[in-house]
Amino acid sequence: MEIITGAPALKFWWLSVLSLLVWPCLVQSSDSLLQQCITSFDPNTNYYQKMIPADVLDQNFVLPLPIELQEVVTAKGFAVSYGNYYKIIRNQNYNLTYLLHQCGSPVPSLTSLGLPPANGTFQLPVRGPATDSTIPVAFLELLGRLENLTLTETAADFIGSSCVLKYMADGEIKTVSNTAGNTTEVIFTSASGQPTYEANAVSFDATFDGGPLKRAEWIKYMATFFNAEDRAHEVFSYVNASYQCLNMSRSGSTGTNPLVAWLSFSGVSWTISGAAYKMQFDLDAGGLNLNADVLDKIFNMSNQDEVDEFHQILRTIDAVVDETYAPDPFSYTLDNFTANARIDTPLVDYPFLTSKRVIRVDKRVGRGLDWFEMAIPQPHVVLHDLINMLYPSQAYSSTYLRNIALGEIPVNVTLEPCTRPIAEALEPKIISDPNVVKCVKAAGNLGKNGATLLSPAPLAVMLAGATFHLAMMAILL
Ligand SMILES: *[C@@H]1O[C@H](CO)[C@@H](O)[C@H](O)[C@H]1NC(C)=O
Ligand SMILES: *[C@@H]1O[C@H](CO)[C@@H](O)[C@H](O)[C@H]1NC(C)=O
Ligand SMILES: *[C@@H]1O[C@H](CO)[C@@H](O)[C@H](O)[C@H]1NC(C)=O
Ligand SMILES: *[C@@H]1O[C@H](CO)[C@@H](O)[C@H](O)[C@H]1NC(C)=O
Ligand SMILES: *[C@@H]1O[C@H](CO)[C@@H](O)[C@H](O)[C@H]1NC(C)=O
Ligand SMILES: *[C@@H]1O[C@H](CO)[C@@H](O)[C@H](O)[C@H]1NC(C)=O
Ligand SMILES: *[C@@H]1O[C@H](CO)[C@@H](O)[C@H](O)[C@H]1NC(C)=O
Ligand SMILES: *[C@@H]1O[C@H](CO)[C@@H](O)[C@H](O)[C@H]1NC(C)=O
Ligand SMILES: *[C@@H]1O[C@H](CO)[C@@H](O)[C@H](O)[C@H]1NC(C)=O
Repeated sequence: MEIITGAPALKFWWLSVLSLLVWPCLVQSSDSLLQQCITSFDPNTNYYQKMIPADVLDQNFVLPLPIELQEVVTAKGFAVSYGNYYKIIRNQNYNLTYLLHQCGSPVPSLTSLGLPPANGTFQLPVRGPATDSTIPVAFLELLGRLENLTLTETAADFIGSSCVLKYMADGEIKTVSNTAGNTTEVIFTSASGQPTYEANAVSFDATFDGGPLKRAEWIKYMATFFNAEDRAHEVFSYVNASYQCLNMSRSGSTGTNPLVAWLSFSGVSWTISGAAYKMQFDLDAGGLNLNADVLDKIFNMSNQDEVDEFHQILRTIDAVVDETYAPDPFSYTLDNFTANARIDTPLVDYPFLTSKRVIRVDKRVGRGLDWFEMAIPQPHVVLHDLINMLYPSQAYSSTYLRNIALGEIPVNVTLEPCTRPIAEALEPKIISDPNVVKCVKAAGNLGKNGATLLSPAPLAVMLAGATFHLAMMAILL
């Protein structure tokens, strides 16, 4: 390198040095420090308080230490407390306690904090997660933590994400037998009943929570294991704001709102679901629910009295969500529904048939349904779909729901290209309706990078930083 270009370059040499100093600061945040181990441990340094911005920690579930475990009650199914270099997570569904501490720090003693022993102790950040269910996979994909993921065979058999299927095919995501989950660093287990606990198991119970947003908020629980609280805040704030901007429930008293029923056929009987999150979706989409006395009722289709009772209820319903399991969703049409429901009397008797609203949750099909995966942390997209099915608009193209009364067919996600590298987080799906964008912007508090979801501003700042640096180099050389 020759510095012979004379006065201008020499005069501004300090700008180039300054740009070299400033540029790394633009890209290296406290996030990257949270991804490293503590090198010279000092018990009195508050590592987490320094690095996790206070405003990303929702006071609804962050509890101060010391906590009285027996008294922990929050609106969510979990609570987190932060120590200087450790975190304590309470999972209220199963009354479990997990102790997490930053790598490079000693394991803190819970006894000295007056707490009972933990059900699992983990070093942060977790680098090799595993799961036996598809549900945690979606949360990991939004957090950008699919790298080094291991799936048990059961989870692998039902994946509904096109990118995860590709990473599996590429060998970036490994599959192990169902009994080998206990050999991984941590295994997030599904919510179907009390899981069998190994020392490395963490119960991930998003679907235990009774509301669409409460289920989605479990991204904050997952993020705790990766020091990714910032990212969880960003994703959830967007999902929450979008959901609330779409929420039509205030129009629920006009008397013209459609009555919605979620039904499924077992091969023998039909059940009307009363699951709280589904009822919430109905109301928030501007629909109405059946009376509580028929919710969770089962109708044996071999018993004519019960068939008649079922049909009597169906004749009052304006929109059906048919959740019947179909091994091959591509072959499930309106004819399957009417055959299973034994509807052969005049179709005009059934409002949901005349108004053509028979909805299925199997629009996106991989090895399993994306409904049981990415729809869980993205209730804003489900709500958007449901609103447009209850109140159809011409231009709408749905994501998770399809209307078989209109002949809509599933999408094979395997045919969608995945161009995103495994370490890159999936961005939540943006509702591009201008009114929603405006409303979400007004809600604010979208986190550090939240604005990138709606506008390219931070990218422009980074490019400006890079341009500035290159310009300084050019002047110097
Ligand atoms: C929850 O766990 C705590 C300690 O782990 C125990 O004292 C308490 O009795 C448990 N409560 C229930 C309902 O199991
Ligand atoms: C969790 O830990 C508590 C306290 O040690 C213990 O009483 C309880 O049995 C553990 N639960 C499970 C499911 O292992
Ligand atoms: C994946 O595993 C490798 C090897 O253990 C580790 O170096 C890397 O940090 C891990 N990646 C993440 C995102 O934790
Ligand atoms: C994991 O579980 C299997 C059977 O369930 C058992 O044979 C094996 O010893 C366990 N391995 C560890 C590391 O706990
Ligand atoms: C969710 O959105 C509502 C309405 O915009 C807002 O009041 C609430 O604070 C948000 N909650 C979180 C955790 O972002
Ligand atoms: C949707 O709005 C209604 C009316 O404001 C409110 O009662 C309901 O809780 C909202 N839904 C969610 C999931 O917050
Ligand atoms: C359904 O009804 C038939 C005929 O009454 C009866 O034989 C059968 O056991 C019932 N099935 C269930 C699951 O109740
Ligand atoms: C739907 O009905 C058709 C025609 O009877 C049948 O071939 C197909 O297997 C059914 N599909 C499902 C998923 O039940
Ligand atoms: C989806 O497409 C892939 C690739 O063509 C194919 O192997 C798979 O069988 C299809 N899945 C379904 C459910 O049709």
